[in-house]
Amino acid sequence: MSRPSAISADHSTVCTHPSGLDPTRIPEHIAVIMDGNGRWAKARGLPRMMGHRAGVEALKTTLRLCSDWGIKALTVYAFSTENWNRPTDEVHFLMTLFERVLQRELEALQSQKVRINFLGDIEGLPGRLQELIEQATSLTSGNSGIHFNVCTNYGGRRELVIAAQKLAERSLNGELDPTLIDENMFAKELFTANEADPDLLIRTSGERRISNFLLWQLAYAEIHVTDVLWPDFDEAALLHALVDYQSRCRRFGGLDPISHERLES
Ligand code: IPE
Ligand code: IPE
Ligand code: MG
Repeated sequence: MSRPSAISADHSTVCTHPSGLDPTRIPEHIAVIMDGNGRWAKARGLPRMMGHRAGVEALKTTLRLCSDWGIKALTVYAFSTENWNRPTDEVHFLMTLFERVLQRELEALQSQKVRINFLGDIEGLPGRLQELIEQATSLTSGNSGIHFNVCTNYGGRRELVIAAQKLAERSLNGELDPTLIDENMFAKELFTANEADPDLLIRTSGERRISNFLLWQLAYAEIHVTDVLWPDFDEAALLHALVDYQSRCRRFGGLDPISHERLES
């Protein structure tokens, strides 16, 4: 695919954008519900686990493209608080896969200047995975490239309850006047504190639901649902999502500034 335009982004690197994209309207933050691994495997007569393995390759491609195209943050849904309800062997496979991938890819993440973070109830994960998460997070914390947030043992409702508990505790201790709690203060207690809200949510595999993902943060995200199954998500699919995003008129409850101006004049 041709990438003729080159502009400098906030990162220290020069970003390239594929043709057909408006470089001034690249979303800053993309969130992805990576769904369809099981169906991808089933369609090939393979065990579900092979779908998860193939999904890792799609994730690596997506991260690299987002970084190349100047997207500042990529937040992906890797394992939900509800995914524990799956058969034990699948859960065990996924936890081991996360460990292996993290170990194997850490050097590459570091050389790409990626800043990785894990959002969710990390203490509920296996000990070895927690250690690797801690290691990867601290090693990459000073990196200047894309923020790569991996939601693992993540639930949007759980996140909201934890935030409410923290604020309630501070109020009880007399550190905080509850009448002063506002949206900014609340957002700072979420796992995504310091990250702007996603501009674009992509869900693969055709499902039209958010499955307990980023319930607060997606308030005004543009939603792109594609039938592509996650392991098949590639450069063309990402480009398609971005072109769709750029065709949207984001009003945030107000009026479309261009057509409003025309009406007024
Ligand atoms: C998404 O793919 C990966 C995880 C939830 C861990 P699925 O495993 O949900 O794939 P489908 O939906 O069964 O096809
Ligand atoms: C959402 O996918 C969770 C992740 C992608 C990690 P699911 O496959 O778990 O969602 P549902 O069950 O179809 O809503
Ligand atoms: Mg699924």
